[in-house]
Amino acid sequence: MKNLIRSLFVFALLAACSREDTVLISYENPELELEVPFGFPEFNNSVYTNKPTKYGVALGEKLFQDTRLSADNSVSCASCHIQEHAFADRNAKGIGIEGRIGLRNTPPVQNMAFMKVFNWDGNIRVLENQPLVPIITHFEMDSSILEVIGKLEEDPEYIELFNKAFNGEGITADGIYNSIAQFEYTLISANSKYDKVIREAGETFTETEALGYQVFQDKCVSCHSTELFTDQSFRNIGFPLNSDHEEAGRSRVTGAVEDFMRFRVPSLRNIAHTEPYGSFGQFETLRAVLDYFDNGVLEADNLDPILKENNNRIPLSETEKDQLMAFMHTLSDSEFIGK
Ligand code: HEC
Ligand code: HEC
Repeated sequence: MKNLIRSLFVFALLAACSREDTVLISYENPELELEVPFGFPEFNNSVYTNKPTKYGVALGEKLFQDTRLSADNSVSCASCHIQEHAFADRNAKGIGIEGRIGLRNTPPVQNMAFMKVFNWDGNIRVLENQPLVPIITHFEMDSSILEVIGKLEEDPEYIELFNKAFNGEGITADGIYNSIAQFEYTLISANSKYDKVIREAGETFTETEALGYQVFQDKCVSCHSTELFTDQSFRNIGFPLNSDHEEAGRSRVTGAVEDFMRFRVPSLRNIAHTEPYGSFGQFETLRAVLDYFDNGVLEADNLDPILKENNNRIPLSETEKDQLMAFMHTLSDSEFIGK
């Protein structure tokens, strides 16, 4: 009798299923708890509209490392965004498929969840709109979203992961963009020596580091401010100019003359691991950046007032440079860069 009831029940269930157009299998896909670290600004809005989930992040990470996103299957996001360099690389300018050289230096991918604008010129305002750019750019991956989807659809592991991450919707362009952004939202660097000193978590600065922190507050913090070490503004600080005619800095986005060669103030977190420096890698070392500020920067009509009012310089003694170097090294987060 029991068995009969059970088979009737199973039969009823099958009948019910067959009446539906699709059988919905729902996976448990918990949201991840991301915390805003001590002193950091709030998350940006898209972190709430595209909440990182267990499978979303796993999928995003897998895609980030997959060379199939490029036309000839040779370059992944992680080819240029390498974890041990805080998800930047060691090249002056990004190098894509077939050794094609791009326009700019690869920035680290860290603390994206708190940033309001992306890229050196801020042409991207929503992180979910970013992944398509390298996928289709000639000197990066030179592919197309349809080509990528076609390749991924041949891989049953991806089909399953997309279904788990996005409610059985299968492989979609939005799934690619959203999962990559979800993965990037989890790349939070907030556990450097500096953070442990600030949080009074058992670390203290050496004397040189402490003096460097003071110099930093006197001469750098007006732009490299907040716990992100950038105020996210665009400024021309007279760095040596990129000779590529494509380059115009922020004015590429706004068309405004006053934005010519203005760039987003870069974060200085993990700065000891992201050489070379500058928008096209014009400085090989950190010290060279400090020497340049001290020796004097290029004149420009729209040179930042902070430099203009100081004879186009940020004067620094050799001792202050040593101290700043020591301080900037406290911004390295060994857990984040995985070493
Ligand atoms: C060929 C090297 C290269 C590849 C491949 C590459 N990137 Fe980038 N990435 C760059 C460069 C260079 C920039 C800066 C572009 C600019 O400012 O115009 C950048 C910028 C970014 C930014 C903005 C960072 C910030 O601080 O605003 C993110 C996020 C990012 N890339 C993620 C990705 C993802 C995701 C992929 C794969 C789909 C990818 N990148 C593939 C070189 C690369
Ligand atoms: C007026 C604003 C301003 C001040 C003051 C300032 N910076 Fe910057 N900094 C920027 C901008 C903007 C860039 C990017 C410029 C570019 O690439 O053309 C930058 C770039 C850098 C870079 C290269 C980062 C990278 O990832 O390529 C370092 C290092 C740096 N600054 C350190 C400092 C230090 C140390 C001080 C203080 C001695 C300082 N800055 C003062 C705005 C400023």
